[in-house]
Amino acid sequence: MSKAKRSPITGLGPYLRLSAEKLKKEKEEKKKKKKSATSDKSPSEMAATTAATMSIGSAVCCGPKTSTCAQSKLFTLRPTPRNSLTTFSGLKAATSVSFESDSSFLGRDSSSALRRMFAINSQKPNQSLPSKKSLQPQASYKVAVLGAAGGIGQPLALLIKTSPLVSALHLYDIANVKGVAADLSHCNTPSQVLDFTGASELAECLKGVNVVVIPAGVPRKPGMTRDDLFNINANIVKTLVEAVADNCPDAFIHIISNPVNSTVPIAAEVLKQKGVYNPKKLFGVTTLDVVRANTFVAQKKNLKLIDVDVPVVGGHAGITILPLLSKTKPSVSFSDEEIEALTVRIQNAGTEVVEAKAGAGSATLSMAYAAARFVESSLRALNGDDVYECAYVQSDINELPFFASRIKMGKKGVEEIISADFQGLTEYEQKALEALKPELKASIEKGIAFAQKKPVTA
Ligand SMILES: NC(=O)c1ccc[n+]([C@@H]2O[C@H](COP(=O)([O-])OP(=O)(O)OC[C@H]3O[C@@H](n4cnc5c(N)ncnc54)[C@H](O)[C@@H]3O)[C@@H](O)[C@H]2O)c1
Repeated sequence: MSKAKRSPITGLGPYLRLSAEKLKKEKEEKKKKKKSATSDKSPSEMAATTAATMSIGSAVCCGPKTSTCAQSKLFTLRPTPRNSLTTFSGLKAATSVSFESDSSFLGRDSSSALRRMFAINSQKPNQSLPSKKSLQPQASYKVAVLGAAGGIGQPLALLIKTSPLVSALHLYDIANVKGVAADLSHCNTPSQVLDFTGASELAECLKGVNVVVIPAGVPRKPGMTRDDLFNINANIVKTLVEAVADNCPDAFIHIISNPVNSTVPIAAEVLKQKGVYNPKKLFGVTTLDVVRANTFVAQKKNLKLIDVDVPVVGGHAGITILPLLSKTKPSVSFSDEEIEALTVRIQNAGTEVVEAKAGAGSATLSMAYAAARFVESSLRALNGDDVYECAYVQSDINELPFFASRIKMGKKGVEEIISADFQGLTEYEQKALEALKPELKASIEKGIAFAQKKPVTA
């Protein structure tokens, strides 16, 4: 394993540059203007104006607990005049970038939380100028991707590499990961990229890691049965989670390898056998279902993408994927035909991609995007923000031991399973919810039986 490329990338200079003199000048001018303008503006209008001038990268501290955010060790941002600072936004430096970008990892809730935070700050009198230090993101989390050389692993690693919250990115695969790491390590973002190949380097890869993401395995190919996929991926997930239990039992574990409905129960059993199972820190990544639901609904109803939020519950295969369209925000009405068409499209969206790729794999780019969003949310949660996402987790929402629903995440992982989405379901949703349970139950039992080395039936 070549570790020559392990020199850390430390220069954060390109991210944030302040012109102190310019700031001072603008502040004085602003003071003068403020005298005449303040009187005819409401606080919310003022906040909106301020927020619009903020420059922000793809991930920011913006949970509902604004007081926590203000003290975040990642960012301490204060309202500043337009063009007064240059900051890293995505892949280029920009003088002014709206945080409410349609392409950002920030969802609508995060954006409005951020706006609230600025609203509070903008009303504080005699605000001091932000120091250069206080504006620098302090990357501090270690993330490992297991299966990093694959179709999902590579773009996922790239997206995680752009996160200002990550200090170290550990890439593990059984083959071809050295080149991926060498390539990514040339990106001038804060994280140090390390490569690990083969079982002998797995333990080293996992030491001290905060979040482990597992997209290792084989994707569905035309002609492949679910059992074929299960048999290969179940063993891969089992082996990898055993190593996680031995080397970083406290980490958040994100399972992407399919069938998620079974691989998450397998991971839980393995962790139990190792005596380190913490149900709050084991997640089946179902974010792609939410991303697809949001996209398809926005397209159908001609809505702004960032505004749309559809909770998706149940599991992560076929009819076990249940978008709760009646809970769509903003509130929209659908005809019965639209509900049927959208639900079926969201459930079969994976097949849409498998067929379009005609044997060249399954969804990789959209999956990488969705997984990166879930990583970013987890890092923000670890940092003390309250974050809401849908995920497939151990649950007491109904009789099934694992279920996907909206969850509240915090420093310790799952803090709350949000049951409100299940109140007042439509008849269609209620029926679909009952219909999915037997299939999901069978997948869960199949995973548990595999991990307990009992004969696998379903
Ligand atoms: N959760 C979701 O929403 C979702 C969506 C799409 C795909 N998937 C699943 O993600 C998995 C990966 O898909 P892909 O398209 O990236 O496949 P891929 O074949 O392109 O990549 C898989 C990678 O895993 C590696 N790998 C295999 N065995 C390994 C092991 N024991 N340890 C470490 N690495 C190992 C391979 O070398 C390869 O680089 C599949 O199981 C697929 O079904 C999940």
